[in-house]
This record gives sequence, structure tokens and C-alpha cells, in this order.
Amino acid sequence: MIDKDFVTAHTKVLCIIGYPIEHSMSPIMHNTAIRELHLDYIYLAFNIFPSNLKLAVKGIKTFNIIGINVTIPFKQKIMKYLDEIDPITKKIGAVNAIKNDKGYLTGKNTDAEGAMRALLNAGYKISGKNVLLLGAGGAARALSYIMAEQVNKLVIVNRTEKRALKLSNQIKKYSGINVEAKQMSNNVLKDESKKADIIINATPVGMYPNVNISPIPEEFLHEDLIVYDVVYNPLKTKLITDAAQKGCKTLGGLDMLVNQGALAFEWWTNKKPNTSLMRKKVIEFLGES
Ligand SMILES: NC(=O)c1ccc[n+]([C@@H]2O[C@H](COP(=O)([O-])OP(=O)(O)OC[C@H]3O[C@@H](n4cnc5c(N)ncnc54)[C@H](OP(=O)(O)O)[C@@H]3O)[C@@H](O)[C@H]2O)c1
Repeated sequence: MIDKDFVTAHTKVLCIIGYPIEHSMSPIMHNTAIRELHLDYIYLAFNIFPSNLKLAVKGIKTFNIIGINVTIPFKQKIMKYLDEIDPITKKIGAVNAIKNDKGYLTGKNTDAEGAMRALLNAGYKISGKNVLLLGAGGAARALSYIMAEQVNKLVIVNRTEKRALKLSNQIKKYSGINVEAKQMSNNVLKDESKKADIIINATPVGMYPNVNISPIPEEFLHEDLIVYDVVYNPLKTKLITDAAQKGCKTLGGLDMLVNQGALAFEWWTNKKPNTSLMRKKVIEFLGES
């Protein structure tokens, strides 16, 4: 008799594509959820050389891979190969999850809702708040659109000012909220952090292996702030450690990671995964690495 969790010729395949891919926590999270629910699925990771993206999309259809996560550097580039993309994902301009229905590929951004769920689950309300957002890349775009529906004011500060301006103009058109764009500098960070209720880091500054740097000097943080860092490796970044020492409320990137994964998993399998278990497995893994 074959074990229920054994891979067979019926097993459905889920995967993540990216380049590089070895750092990804998605196989650990998703295979944990699959095993716990005893589903006949397996989740794999594929390192796709960037010039092979089009071939990879053909491969997804040929091999009938039914659910796909997309990570750096393909979140934007893959959009042109998809048959359907929901309107908010089109605006965000980045797809991180795809569903394959007999060769018809639909793209979604679950990072945005994953980030919002993480904030809400932590008990942090964003409605009517003044938010200082660091970064204007994929994660920052997802956060901007999802927050634009609720916050009072959004200040987007980015190393490349042009990108911040482009995003702020798009958000203004989308929601009509008060949005400003500024070039990142110590003076700007000092002034804007005084006026902010929430600071969100959506840059990779502080990410492994550069764990001893923070996107904002410690002295600009104050105890009335909520500080949210979307970086999840390390689990506690320098920014989060500094903020906790200053008495701020804090949130790291792990819960966004788990929630964006759980949203995709449910979309593909119609089953709710155990997010506490997924979270625990990632902590075990990152703690060891
Ligand atoms: N927790 C989660 O589930 C989750 C999900 C998605 C992403 N993330 C994390 O979020 C971070 C950003 O990812 P992304 O996909 O948004 O990347 P991205 O699209 O490449 O954007 C990176 C952003 O960070 C800025 N930046 C990069 N290096 C910088 C530096 N040294 N100093 C100041 N700014 C810098 C870039 O500014 P320029 O415009 O000037 O280049 C850009 O705004 C990564 O660490 C990623 O792992 C976490």
C-alpha cells in the first residue's frame, strides 16, 4: 500500500521560478502546508536563467504546473506572457503568483494583501495614519496601492527620486490621497520620520548578508512609531532591533511572506493552509542557516 504522502503519477506540481532561487523559503512553507493537509501536491523551485523566461512559461503549460510563484527578477517581465491579470495587479505592475487552468495563465499580486494581513494580524491599524515608505520597487508598489485606500498621507522616499515620483503620481490618480515623493537623504529621513506614525522599509537594506546596516539612522526613530520592515532574512533586522530599543511597535517581514504564500496556496488548492505551521518551519530554517 502506497503512503498517502508519496509522490505518484497523479501528484500535482506547484513551483517557484526566479534567478537565483536558492534563498527562497517558499518550498519549505508550501510543502509544510501540503503535508499537513495530506494533499497530493508537490512544490518545487526552479532556477531560470533570465533569457529563458519565455521558454519557462511554455514549460509551465507543457508540464501542466498548476500553481507558480514568481520572484526576482521576473515579477514584472512575466506579465506579458500571461492571459489575464487582475486590475489591481496590473496597476501594481508585479505578479508574484500564477494559476494555470489548462494552459490559461492568470496572474496575481498576493504580496500586497499579504503585507496588509500581516499588519492587521499584528493589531496595527493604518486607517488615517501618516506613512513614510522607504523604496519604490516591487514591494513598495504593492504596499502603496493597498495602503492608498486607507491612510491619511503617504510619503515615498527612494534612492532614485524619479521612481518615487512616478509611483506617487500613479497613487494620486488611483486614490486621490495626499502623496509626496522625495529623494532619500538623511535630512529627508529626519524630517519625515518626525511626522510619521508608521515607517515601512521596502528596500533590501539590512537584508542578509548586510545585516549590520539599517535604511534609517536609529536617532530618527521615536517611541510613537510603528516600524515595519518587509525584509525577513534576518528575522530581526538592524532596523527592527533599533526600533524595539527606542520603544517603537515593530513588525518584521516574515508574516508578509507567510501570508502572501498562504493566499496563493488557497487560490491554487482551495484549501486553507496552516499559517502558524508555515511560519514555524521558516523560523526553524532561518534560525539554522
Ligand atoms: N516579506 C515578504 O514577503 C517580501 C515580499 C517582497 C519583497 N520583500 C523584500 O523587500 C525588499 C525589496 O524587494 P523588491 O522586490 O521591492 O525589490 P526591487 O523591486 O528591486 O526594489 C528595491 C528598492 O530598494 C531600493 N534600494 C535598493 N538598494 C538600496 C540601497 N542600498 N539604499 C537605498 N535604497 C535601495 C531601490 O531603490 P532604487 O529605485 O534607487 O533602485 C528600490 O526602491 C527585498 O529585501 C525583498 O526580499 C519581502
